[in-house]
Amino acid sequence: LKTIQVNTKSKKYSVYLGGNSLKPLPELFTRQQLPERVLVVMDKTVDKIYGQSIKRIINSFAEKKYFLTLTASEKIKSISTATQIYQKLIDQKFGKDTVLISIGGGTIGDLAGYVASTYTRGIKLVHIPTTLLSAVDSSIGGKTGVNFQSAKNIIGTIYQPEFVLIDSKFMSTLPKQELVSGFGEVIKYSYLTDKKFYKSLLKNYKLLFENDADFFNKIIFECIKIKAAIVSSDETEETGLRKILNFGHTFAHSIESNSDYKMPHGNAVIAGIVSALHLSSEMKMINNNQLNYMLELPMKFKSSIRLKRNNSDEIYKKMVYDKKNRNGEIRFVLLKDFGELIIDIPAERKDVIKSLKRTEQIWFKRATAGL
Ligand SMILES: NC(=O)c1ccc[n+]([C@@H]2O[C@H](COP(=O)([O-])OP(=O)(O)OC[C@H]3O[C@@H](n4cnc5c(N)ncnc54)[C@H](O)[C@@H]3O)[C@@H](O)[C@H]2O)c1
Repeated sequence: LKTIQVNTKSKKYSVYLGGNSLKPLPELFTRQQLPERVLVVMDKTVDKIYGQSIKRIINSFAEKKYFLTLTASEKIKSISTATQIYQKLIDQKFGKDTVLISIGGGTIGDLAGYVASTYTRGIKLVHIPTTLLSAVDSSIGGKTGVNFQSAKNIIGTIYQPEFVLIDSKFMSTLPKQELVSGFGEVIKYSYLTDKKFYKSLLKNYKLLFENDADFFNKIIFECIKIKAAIVSSDETEETGLRKILNFGHTFAHSIESNSDYKMPHGNAVIAGIVSALHLSSEMKMINNNQLNYMLELPMKFKSSIRLKRNNSDEIYKKMVYDKKNRNGEIRFVLLKDFGELIIDIPAERKDVIKSLKRTEQIWFKRATAGL
């Protein structure tokens, strides 16, 4: 098992990579002296494909267990599903000495994390991410949350797990769409560190669709190293460093919402990165050569992403309402170079619109340019 340490102020924990069908789970429970009373919240698709072997492992060590399966979607990231889980915990007489294990993607993990952080003011939590997005991003760093009315992640906590166990074999059954979505975050990480990671992704990105375990292990490891370092030094966005993880996301959130959430998160992140790169160039932080090189990787996924035409104004309006804005002024994470990100940059409307238009142009006008 490869181990990456996350050392936040509130908790120090390990991310284990190479889970081999979750076989290390009993041993990790023993080593960390965790209570053997577990409520498992599991993604229904994961249950269908892997349920038998997962249940066998958990039954082998848990003295008390209950399995709850949910159909993953933004809809279940809600107070009402959280209430159903509380009800199960109460009905099944699970007390404070309980471990909640989430097995699934980011929707299951965010919801389960929220419940774990609030039930009896906090029970122990273990994440077993099964999507690329959750393996590289949402299972690490402790952000939990549910949606409320139309606002995404508006209610939530920061609550770290006891450990995260990743088996990249789960990636082998992900639909192509989910692979691309997860890869959106992988691409994002590649701008947050030195150029080496970006270069290697540019060379090997096609392996994403070839079910290559080595490739998954490598990219997951690299991304977690980056995220672990960032959240270890700024768990709650106190110093602002954690904000660099939002590179491309101010654009992405509005693009996602503009698609009525039909576009997967990571796909919107790819389009958002393209816009953020253009804005960095508009604001003279990078030159044309840098811009073109930095666009190469996200552009490889252009055909998987359906942007709407002529939506720059709409997307801009949505940004103004983004919950992270201060006094309606939109602030961006932009970049000067690989590993050189700058946070909280205000930008003029005209520059933002121009960057969005240049993004659209890439999608629609140069569709045959073979980018
Ligand atoms: N907490 C954080 O820091 C953080 C960071 C980024 C995103 N998020 C949240 O993550 C969520 C998105 O997560 P996601 O992309 O993992 O989506 P998801 O949880 O909805 O999973 C995507 C799809 O993949 C299926 N699936 C899961 N594992 C599978 C497997 N091994 N094989 C086949 N199918 C499988 C699911 O059933 C689902 O249909 C969003 O709600 C977003 O807000 C949270």
